[in-house]
Amino acid sequence: MRKYNVAVVGVTGAVGEEILRVLEEVDFPVAKLVPLASANSVGKDVVFHTERVAVKELTESAFAENDVEIALFSAGGSISAKYAPYAVEAGAVVIDNTSHFRMDSDVPLVVPEVNPEDIDSWQTRGVIANPNCSTIQMVQALKPLDDKYTIQRVDVSTYQATSGAGKKAMEELVTQMREFFEFKLDESVHEAFAHQIALNVIPQIDKFMESDYTKEEEKMVYETQKILHRNIEVSATCVRVPVLRGHSENVTITFENPVDASEARDILRNSPNIVVVDEPAESNYPMPIVATEKNETFVGRIRRDIYRDNMLHLWVVADNLRVGAATNAVRIAEKWIERGE
Ligand SMILES: NC(=O)c1ccc[n+]([C@@H]2O[C@H](COP(=O)([O-])OP(=O)(O)OC[C@H]3O[C@@H](n4cnc5c(N)ncnc54)[C@H](OP(=O)(O)O)[C@@H]3O)[C@@H](O)[C@H]2O)c1
Repeated sequence: MRKYNVAVVGVTGAVGEEILRVLEEVDFPVAKLVPLASANSVGKDVVFHTERVAVKELTESAFAENDVEIALFSAGGSISAKYAPYAVEAGAVVIDNTSHFRMDSDVPLVVPEVNPEDIDSWQTRGVIANPNCSTIQMVQALKPLDDKYTIQRVDVSTYQATSGAGKKAMEELVTQMREFFEFKLDESVHEAFAHQIALNVIPQIDKFMESDYTKEEEKMVYETQKILHRNIEVSATCVRVPVLRGHSENVTITFENPVDASEARDILRNSPNIVVVDEPAESNYPMPIVATEKNETFVGRIRRDIYRDNMLHLWVVADNLRVGAATNAVRIAEKWIERGE
């Protein structure tokens, strides 16, 4: 099997570290690993398949100098904006985890279980975009149900972990928890979020837009429509909760047709990379601690609305660093190879 020179941009970050783990776990055909980060990380090593590899500084020439063929970016939108073109110029396909290219009409936005065929237009810009973490796990559950019952509208509330905002945000939660036990929480500073996150719930992720929705909420609307190729109605409320890892979502779906809960359960059970955990009598349902470090999306609390036979409620949980970022990016790379590059 052919092997590829793979760059991981942002390799020292929450997503970058997870990309390395997933590449190892799936035994991705890596000829040479090129770990890239900021100048601050030069001198650090990463371990890949038991080998120590030195982190290099991300520069304009890093891709050409290392003959990179696949570049997985997760170092922030402005970094992708500046450096992805150099990777493409060097002949690499860019798989981008940031929001920078997602809504560009000539860049495919891909969840491999949902719209793998969109990968085929990658050559237009040389970039394939990874959707937002909350969008990925939701559309994985929506797609098979849409195929059967035709979705009209989705109303979703999210309960998003701090790791969705990166390593520093996770550390902020841990620090504040420690401060609580030391009776110092009153003096606590918060930088990653608009408010203290420990012992709190914050109904704001990213900035507020003209629509009065947040940017994160708008992403869930427009990315879902782009991935499903349909302008279904979506309304999202995105909330940050004091969880380290794993996003949960309460999803209410209105269909054009009547829906049957046990049939919907079977459809989801037979869908790729979805695990149904739905035994409420045994208090068995998806939770972040169930989904952590897993590559599947967990769905439970599946029930038809009390009043409307065309409405279904679901509880969807996935590891945002894996399903919502690293695993999806690596699955895109695998599909890109499978579909003939
Ligand atoms: N966390 C999630 O669940 C998630 C999900 C999907 C997408 N994303 C997106 O992925 C990106 C990274 O997120 P994260 O959570 O991994 O953030 P993070 O933990 O803060 O890591 C940021 C990474 O970017 C690198 N970086 C920062 N400035 C750089 C520069 N000037 N040049 C080169 N590298 C630079 C950092 O390197 P140093 O260590 O050297 O500073 C680090 O490796 C963001 O755009 C985010 O929106 C995140």
